Amino acid sequence: MTHIRSEIIGTGHYLPSKVVTNDDLAKIVDTSDEWIVERTGIKSRRIVAEGELTSDLCVNASKMALKNANLKAEDVDAVIIATITADNITPAVATKVAAELGVKTGVPAFDISAACSGFIYALTIADNMIKLNQAKRALVVGAESLSKITDWTDRNTCILFGDGAGAVVLQAKEGKGTNADTGLLTAKIYADGSGYEQLKTTGGVSLTESTGKLWMNGKEVFKYAIPAMAGSIEAVLGDVGASLDDVDWVIPHQANIRIIDGVAKKLNLDNSKVIITVDHQANTSAATIPLALSEAVEEGKIKKGDLIALTAMGAGFTWGGALVRY
Ligand code: COA
Repeated sequence: MTHIRSEIIGTGHYLPSKVVTNDDLAKIVDTSDEWIVERTGIKSRRIVAEGELTSDLCVNASKMALKNANLKAEDVDAVIIATITADNITPAVATKVAAELGVKTGVPAFDISAACSGFIYALTIADNMIKLNQAKRALVVGAESLSKITDWTDRNTCILFGDGAGAVVLQAKEGKGTNADTGLLTAKIYADGSGYEQLKTTGGVSLTESTGKLWMNGKEVFKYAIPAMAGSIEAVLGDVGASLDDVDWVIPHQANIRIIDGVAKKLNLDNSKVIITVDHQANTSAATIPLALSEAVEEGKIKKGDLIALTAMGAGFTWGGALVRY
């Protein structure tokens, strides 16, 4: 029997050039570099320039991913973008990005809204499209301009977020159906709407006819995140009969170093296997995982054949995990 797997054949990322340090934030809210580093592990974040749009971040990250995949935009037959900060409420930013890249007319392009879990949701959907032969090559992007919905007067939240984009190109590949095959081995996505009010924007189209700003019950989110993320890693490992010892790298959603450490502790995971970007990027929501993946590939940390576990948790609540043989 033929097994179709979605192989990651290119990764890319883009960060806006403007760096905002904790000291910069201490000038606008009552906080300090010491407090932010101790409670979150964040030292700085990137913020979009005036006029720089989420679509621009997507286009830059996608160009890098396509180049690394040795492909042109016209070779792609699906474009999926995970974001909660698209240029417009409608149309999907994916259509704009596809047009700017030169993706062929008729190729489906749409956005996924699952907050910080968005990239794992998008990856799952793209993988299913590939397995159903609805696409041979999919461009999957996670991108955010969270600075646009950040309440810059709220020290509880404004210290946590940043802007950026990461992208991968997936391609159908026939395999034997074993864990040695390269590609996405398995993915699981989840939601629990009882957490809806815990992390949200204070407004929305139907609620207030505006976007509102990010608001969060930090303690509740924190408590939920650790078991959800650890549990999703255990679930994807269980799915393919693998153990953490088989995993070369874990890329967790980058919200707070204490959440990441909590997940590692719960799993009894060696910290040296965990990719960290939260220190210099903060929480870029759907972008953190593809950003971290692309940076780690570029740095030569992640190599062909490595087994990578991805996990994320975010607003909704939503969460999920995936196992990728790179
Ligand atoms: N600088 C200084 N003090 C701050 C502060 C800041 N930026 N933000 C909050 N504080 C204060 C609080 O007002 C509180 O003061 P009080 O005791 O006088 O009321 C004190 O610090 C402790 O606040 P608390 O909320 O208990 O801190 P915490 O250790 O729980 O850390 C978060 C707060 C937001 C960092 C933490 O809850 C968190 O990371 N939650 C998850 C957030 C997240 O990543 N969400 C996205 C997931 S996708």
